[in-house]
Amino acid sequence: MRLKWIMIIALLCIGIVVRAQEATPGPNGLGDSFYPGLGNGGYDAQHYTLVLAWDDETNTLAGTATLEALTTQALTTFNLDFLGFEIEAITLNGQEANWRRVGRELTVKPTTPLSADETFTVAVTYSGVPGEGVISDGPSFAQGWMRHPNGVFVASEPAGASRWFPANDHPLDKATYTFVITVPERYIVAANGLLQSTTANDDGTQTFIWEAGDPMASYLATVNIGDFVVQESEGPDGLPIRNYFPTRLAEQMIQAFATVPDMISFFSEIFGPYPFEAYGAVVADANLSFALETQTISLFGRGVAVGRTGAETVIAHELAHQWFGNSVSLAQWKDIWLNEGFATYASMLWVEHRQGRRAMEGELNAYYDLISDPTFTAGEFSPPGSPSADALFNGGVYLRGAWTLHALRLEVGDE
Ligand code: ARG
Ligand code: ZN
Repeated sequence: MRLKWIMIIALLCIGIVVRAQEATPGPNGLGDSFYPGLGNGGYDAQHYTLVLAWDDETNTLAGTATLEALTTQALTTFNLDFLGFEIEAITLNGQEANWRRVGRELTVKPTTPLSADETFTVAVTYSGVPGEGVISDGPSFAQGWMRHPNGVFVASEPAGASRWFPANDHPLDKATYTFVITVPERYIVAANGLLQSTTANDDGTQTFIWEAGDPMASYLATVNIGDFVVQESEGPDGLPIRNYFPTRLAEQMIQAFATVPDMISFFSEIFGPYPFEAYGAVVADANLSFALETQTISLFGRGVAVGRTGAETVIAHELAHQWFGNSVSLAQWKDIWLNEGFATYASMLWVEHRQGRRAMEGELNAYYDLISDPTFTAGEFSPPGSPSADALFNGGVYLRGAWTLHALRLEVGDE
């Protein structure tokens, strides 16, 4: 009798172990409460290599995106997030793979299941006009690859990355990147990380290779194309700073960004060492209604140089995001105030550092007046920790977020 029970229990245990190793489809999301379809489970992205050519006449983007990843479970299929473009071929470990796409979910089916803890390489060859035929989703300021009259910028927070390359499109899965970008030779390309090479091709194009060696969330990946001049300097400990400014605006931009090395030193003292291999700004020769903390090279519109003090606050804000948001990152998009409240308060600390406590409190009070203005609807200034999914970047996240940190500081003290 006893032996029989021991054998049944033993068989059950073996059954559970076998089941655990059984291959199943990788989840098509990472459990984000606001955007359940963003990101994918079952693997861990390691490195993206984006080999893309851009044609300025047709605004066509064409090439191959390769992802090296590590499985976290045995997989019958896995997903990538990818919207738009025509997919020409997908290979898995060099072999043609089966795939299908529904909305943003691109499902790849290996001929034999992948086992757990296995490295795999998936390559997607595609072409098309970015955004063409794609239903707009997410905040309209961040549609991924954006053409403007003088070139291209890429802004993707929160969901624009999968509108220009196939990705595990969620900050829970960071990876390193190589960008191999070919453009007509009159353009310069600025992307994340460090420029490795510039090569002139026979057909009137140029290829720029950028390596981003620090793990990065997909929404922070950027490629900028324009008529840029490069201005180089150094931050603390020899940190390379490279700014890409529109040639015709270079002089005023050099002035607007002159304090950045001092800002890096200041934030390094109060937050810890600058977390990445390089920093700088890229200014699109376009009017943008936002700036974005694209990792190692924050993106601004040309309006950044207008109105001195405002510009300095925005410049400090995007720099502070390199610590808060880019190095330390969100696990859920609903916690966006941990990015925006901290970056906003950091810019107040810069004001305090430069102009004193009174000036800083003056700016904070101006925020308070805005938050308290009864003519604004409550939805536009949500409590910092509970924005709605369709108003992720509402003023409450920024201003109430900053006030929250100030209140905390008054309570616990600077130390
Ligand atoms: N993270 C960006 C920032 O630095 C978000 C910009 C949102 N802008 C907008 N117009 N909704 O604030
Ligand atoms: Zn911000």
